[in-house]
Amino acid sequence: MKTFEKNGARIEVWRDLAELSARAGGLFTDIALGSIKVRGRFSVALSGGSTPRALFELLADDAHQHTLARAWASTHVFWTDERCVPPLDPQSNYRMAHEALLSRVPVPAKQVHRMRGEDEPESAAESYASLLEREFGARVPVFDLILLGMGTDAHTASIFPRSPLLKDSSGDQTIAAVYVEKLSAYRLTLTLRVLNRARNIIFLVSGAEKAEPLRKVFAAADKDEDLPARWVHAEAGELVWQVDEEAAGEMQKEKGKG
Ligand code: 6PG
Repeated sequence: MKTFEKNGARIEVWRDLAELSARAGGLFTDIALGSIKVRGRFSVALSGGSTPRALFELLADDAHQHTLARAWASTHVFWTDERCVPPLDPQSNYRMAHEALLSRVPVPAKQVHRMRGEDEPESAAESYASLLEREFGARVPVFDLILLGMGTDAHTASIFPRSPLLKDSSGDQTIAAVYVEKLSAYRLTLTLRVLNRARNIIFLVSGAEKAEPLRKVFAAADKDEDLPARWVHAEAGELVWQVDEEAAGEMQKEKGKG
């Protein structure tokens, strides 16, 4: 594993998705047990897409079941974003996490807080904002852990290039319903205000198609509206990027030239 620091973030480069998922599984476990010890509960927001599935399946395997056995009872599960589809839809981030992890571990159903993608987007966003306020007892929640991915266009959660959510990253909106032109679809997403407040933020990025956007994100001097992932920074917590060799390829080439 290679590691280096850039833009206030630690980047760890692993051989492949299996290795970075194993590392993320270790971090997830440490943060879960540490949060429960200090605060009596663990709050985590899961990302969607395909990359986190390997991690979710790992957290449900026998080894992790053993170490996390007592943690699930004190764990509250949320999402960073959701597609505006019903929970059984193949596109649903809830469905993926349910199949790969949540249906296989003893987390109480009342502590699984999914975004209601089947509802009218604005009202789904409003009800989730109220849920967050209720569950965290504060206007802006502070998660123990937020998992994030990055798209080939450098979007993260459902904050896409040139998103209005970038312009208004200082407002106290915690969740938004956004219409994504390129997908001709609505998405529900936590805002940067919430992402950057987390105690721990872990990006999972794998594959050669992510190499160029990742290079751009780390080469960008400052916030670029075409690179939403560049706007994620830990205000008071830890930010770590778990990437594989393929995804780090262009960045490492550039670093080698430096
Ligand atoms: C989503 C995600 C999104 C995802 C990236 C990367 O709902 O799609 O939350 O932000 O993390 O699109 O997706 P992959 O892991 O599939 O490349």
